[in-house]
Amino acid sequence: MTRCRWGRARWAVLGGLALTLAACSSKAPSALDPAGPEARRLAGIWWLMFGLAAAVYVVVAGLILYGSLRGRGTEAGKPSRARDATFLWWGGLGVPVVILGLLAVVTVDATGDLRRPADDPLRIEVEAQDWWWAVRYPDLGITTANEIQVPVDRPLEITLTSVDVVHSFWVPRVAGKVDAVPGQTNVLRTTVDTPGVHLGECAEYCGLQHARMRFALVATDEASFDRWVTRRQAPGGTPSSELEARGRQAFERESCAGCHTIRATSADGTVGPDLTDLGSRLTLGAATIDNTPENLAAWIRDSQEIKAGNLMPPFPSSILSDADVEAIVAYLESLP
Ligand code: CUA
Repeated sequence: MTRCRWGRARWAVLGGLALTLAACSSKAPSALDPAGPEARRLAGIWWLMFGLAAAVYVVVAGLILYGSLRGRGTEAGKPSRARDATFLWWGGLGVPVVILGLLAVVTVDATGDLRRPADDPLRIEVEAQDWWWAVRYPDLGITTANEIQVPVDRPLEITLTSVDVVHSFWVPRVAGKVDAVPGQTNVLRTTVDTPGVHLGECAEYCGLQHARMRFALVATDEASFDRWVTRRQAPGGTPSSELEARGRQAFERESCAGCHTIRATSADGTVGPDLTDLGSRLTLGAATIDNTPENLAAWIRDSQEIKAGNLMPPFPSSILSDADVEAIVAYLESLP
């Protein structure tokens, strides 16, 4: 190899290393930073597998190194006194059976424990579709989207299904991936013990905007969760200003109401996400952009610019005046 090619290879290696380190230090949620007991158990299994793989690597690499160095300098090298059969029986059969057997026991045991129903879980129904998540709390009468509020330390029972293609529900810090499959209901049981916003995403390729099918699992203490439930169950829908009132009228008059539901209004469409609590959500478009008045106005005007292929058509000023957009934004941002 020429010197130049060595140089290139070295830069490629250094570049790869830098990228790997950059990935490690990014703020992406990691399954190795668990936020609950079940996730901690899964992380433990990951570390066990990593430890065993590392030990095997060190032993095998050590033997290769030892074999290639021993007897150096003598003419014929030193013949080994170990018999081939010993290596084959132990290295090829005995040790792998022990390691794989151990991992099988640990994995099957954990799978059984993680599936076991808990007493008095908080039941949540999640329905995936291209490319967002409908979220319902059947025992509380609450419907929302792309944001799942949960109390810490209470067992969760999340049932998952899909209305179109196969998606996969994954909150790396909270649980393993569970597929959302049309015509089938899968159950995810887990608990969160670390308050905070735990980001989730779709982990199964599902079409054009698969990468923008994210959500947030917001874990708070019991009292905050109860306050959220009370706020969401209160009879809502009364605008508190003239601008918001005009926004509600425009929302119900225009085609918005045909696709979206806002509880206690005439808007009862089911094509798009339920917007009853839009004002309190952190993001828009399934965690595509932050929930700010400017972003909401841009989304209403032309969401295709932000998330191409979603079902919401653009609303240019020939259809919806600037005044209407301003009023609708004020109304939606006022929702609890
Ligand atoms: Cu839904 Cu990928």
